[in-house]
Amino acid sequence: MTTPTADIPPPPARYREPLSLGTLRLASRFNLAPLAGYTNLPFRLSIREIGGVGLCTTDLVNARAILEGIKKTMALLATAPADRPLAVQIFGSKPGEMADAARWLVDRGLADSVDINMGCPVRKVVKTGGGSSLLCDTTGATVELVRKVVEAVPVPVTVKMRLGWDDANLSAPFFAREFEKAGVAAVTVHGRTREQGFGGGVNHDGIRRVVEAVEKIPVFGNGDVRGVADAARMIEETGCHGVAIGRGALADPWIFRQFASWVATGDPGPRGTYDGRLAFMRLHLRRLVEWKGDEKYGCVQFRKVATWYTRALRLPKRVQQALVMLSNLRQFEDVIAPFADGGAPADWGEWDTQQAQVAVPAGPISHW
Ligand SMILES: Cc1cc2nc3c(=O)[nH]c(=O)nc-3n(C[C@H](O)[C@H](O)[C@H](O)COP(=O)(O)O)c2cc1C
Repeated sequence: MTTPTADIPPPPARYREPLSLGTLRLASRFNLAPLAGYTNLPFRLSIREIGGVGLCTTDLVNARAILEGIKKTMALLATAPADRPLAVQIFGSKPGEMADAARWLVDRGLADSVDINMGCPVRKVVKTGGGSSLLCDTTGATVELVRKVVEAVPVPVTVKMRLGWDDANLSAPFFAREFEKAGVAAVTVHGRTREQGFGGGVNHDGIRRVVEAVEKIPVFGNGDVRGVADAARMIEETGCHGVAIGRGALADPWIFRQFASWVATGDPGPRGTYDGRLAFMRLHLRRLVEWKGDEKYGCVQFRKVATWYTRALRLPKRVQQALVMLSNLRQFEDVIAPFADGGAPADWGEWDTQQAQVAVPAGPISHW
C-alpha cells in the first residue's frame, strides 16, 4: 500500500540538508507539534520508533506549576532516553517565573530545548496573560520575557505562535524578528489567528511573511498537514524551513516516516499496514498503563484515543463501544483478538487513502 506519488512534487533540495536549532542538530525537518493530552511520553516513544521525526515537544506546561512541583505537572515532564531530542513547552506571563522554570528543566536534564507557548487560545491560559495574548503586547514586555528565558538557559529556546490575535492584528512577522534579535533559535507558526480557533483555512501567505521577516533562524510552518502532499504545499507556498505536524500524526503515526522517505528518495514509501496499526495501538495502550503506573488508569487514558484507532482500523461499532469503556488489558486483548487473527478487511487499501478523515480532537477549547 503506497501513497499515490503523481501529485507529489519532489522535495526541495534544502530539505536534504541537516537543520540545527542553535547547537541542537535535528535528524529531520519534521517535528511533532504539541497536542495537550495526547503527545505525552507513551505516544512520543511509539511514534519515534516508526522513525522520521525531528523534534518532539511536550504538552504545554505551566511555568509556575513546575516551580511548585505540582504532581500532575511533573507527570507531563516524564521522559526517557529514547525520547530525545525533546523540547518542553512552557507557558506563563511572568518573565522571572518563565526563566526559573526553564532553568529548572535544563538543570535536571529534562529538556534539550525550551519552547515558549504563544499560541494557545484557551481561556485558562490567555486570562493569565500567557499563550496568544502575548502576541497583543506592544510595550516590549513579550520580547523581554523571551529574552529572559533565552538568557537563563544554555539550550536553544524556541517560540510557538499563531499569526496574531485576529486578521487585523497579524503580529507574528514582527514578533518573530524581535524574538530572533532576542536570541531564539527557531519559531513555529500555526497559520491561524487566535480568533480563528481551529476553524477556517491555514493562511500560508501569513506564514510566508514570517519566513521573510526573520534573518537566519528556521521557521516551522504548521497547520492542517495530513500527508506528504500537504507538506509539499506548505513548503512551496511559505518557504518554511521545516514543518510541525500535530493532528496529522495522531491520524497517521507513519506520517513522519513518509516525510523522511520523500525527502531521501522523492517517494513517500508505504503507509502503515493494518497489522502495524494494530501493533501500534497495543503498544500505545501498554505504554499508557506503564506511564500511569496503574492498569485501570492507563486504560482510562486510552479511552480518549480509542475512537481514532477503531475508525482507522475500520473496527465494528461494538469494538469502539468496548474500547471507550476499557478498564483492563485482558479485556483489550479479548476484544481485539478476532481482528488480529483475521487480518485486514478487503477494502482496507481503498479506505487507507482516506485515512486523514479519522476524527481527531477539534481543538483544546472543546476539551479544556
Ligand atoms: C487537542 C489539541 C491540543 C493542543 N495543545 C497544544 C499545546 O499544548 N501547545 C501548543 O503550542 N499547541 C497546542 N495545540 C495546537 C497544535 O500544536 C497545532 O498548532 C494545531 O493543532 C495545528 O496543527 P495541526 O493541524 O498539525 O494539528 C493543540 C491542538 C489540539 C488540537
